[in-house]
Amino acid sequence: MHPGYLPRGPQTSRKMNSQPNIIAIANQKGGVGKTTSAINLAAGLVREGRRVVVVDLDAQANTSSIFITERPTDESSVYAVFQHRTPAAQLIQATRLPGLFILPAVVQLADVETLLSGAVDGFFRLKDSLDSLSSGDGVADGPIDAVIIDCPPNLGLLTVNAFVAATHLIVPLQTSRFSLDGLKTILDTAATVQKRFNSELKIPGALITMYNPRTAISHAISEPIEEYIHVFETKISRTVAIEESHLMNQTIFEYQPRSKAAQEYESFTREVLGGIFEEK
Ligand SMILES: Nc1ncnc2c1ncn2[C@@H]1O[C@H](COP(=O)(O)OP(=O)(O)OP(=O)(O)O)[C@@H](O)[C@H]1O
Ligand SMILES: [Mg+2]
Repeated sequence: MHPGYLPRGPQTSRKMNSQPNIIAIANQKGGVGKTTSAINLAAGLVREGRRVVVVDLDAQANTSSIFITERPTDESSVYAVFQHRTPAAQLIQATRLPGLFILPAVVQLADVETLLSGAVDGFFRLKDSLDSLSSGDGVADGPIDAVIIDCPPNLGLLTVNAFVAATHLIVPLQTSRFSLDGLKTILDTAATVQKRFNSELKIPGALITMYNPRTAISHAISEPIEEYIHVFETKISRTVAIEESHLMNQTIFEYQPRSKAAQEYESFTREVLGGIFEEK
């Protein structure tokens, strides 16, 4: 049924013009846990009663495949945001998790740089599209509390779109592959976006992922990072349960709700709720 035909009534009263928190999960380095953290933060927030939209900005579409089985077309994916300026409220899809919606990726996303070369509003297309979520209209049929953006592993046009749209940036860092230069580069890009396009952008912190408490380097690593960025107290341990959950196309809360990884993502979610949501 088209959402426009849903009976009005109690749903109508839930609608209001509220701005969601928009959290970009980004690091130009590949394989550091961006997608894992985006999926499980989104699912964690939904478990805490929040209504969440996940935006998959990576052409690999790993996040999308966790939540939906059907492959979207260019017209029904986030590609339409960049190609046709389609409002996100018209594109988001419900998932099996009540309160969790997805704006899925397609492989075509890899062409966005070319598509938008020379477009004067090229950096703003995602922001403009997400503005449509504040009304509560469309598939969500009610206010959205948070948007989680899973960024691709580079600092190109898509990631800049995420920084322009976001209220908050969280940087997952894998300690064993950590580079201070890499961290400085992403923070420089964020600072440029803050200065030029989005003075609202805050950087609540770095999330240490694939942490191994037994190695000395893991203990020592937080200190140099903290000179540049706050580090979330919760660290996500390296565990096979995470990889298995991806293979099963599930969040960690569905796959092994009592696992250490589920507890850690729950604790990270609560840190985010306490920091980011409380300040509103
Ligand atoms: N805590 C963890 N323990 C074990 N494996 C993990 C953990 N977090 C992520 N992984 C695995 O590491 C790989 C990379 O994780 P993920 O896809 O989340 O990173 P990414 O930063 O999104 O990668 P990309 O840059 O390619 O988008 C995946 O195979 C994932 O299953
Ligand atoms: Mg990823």
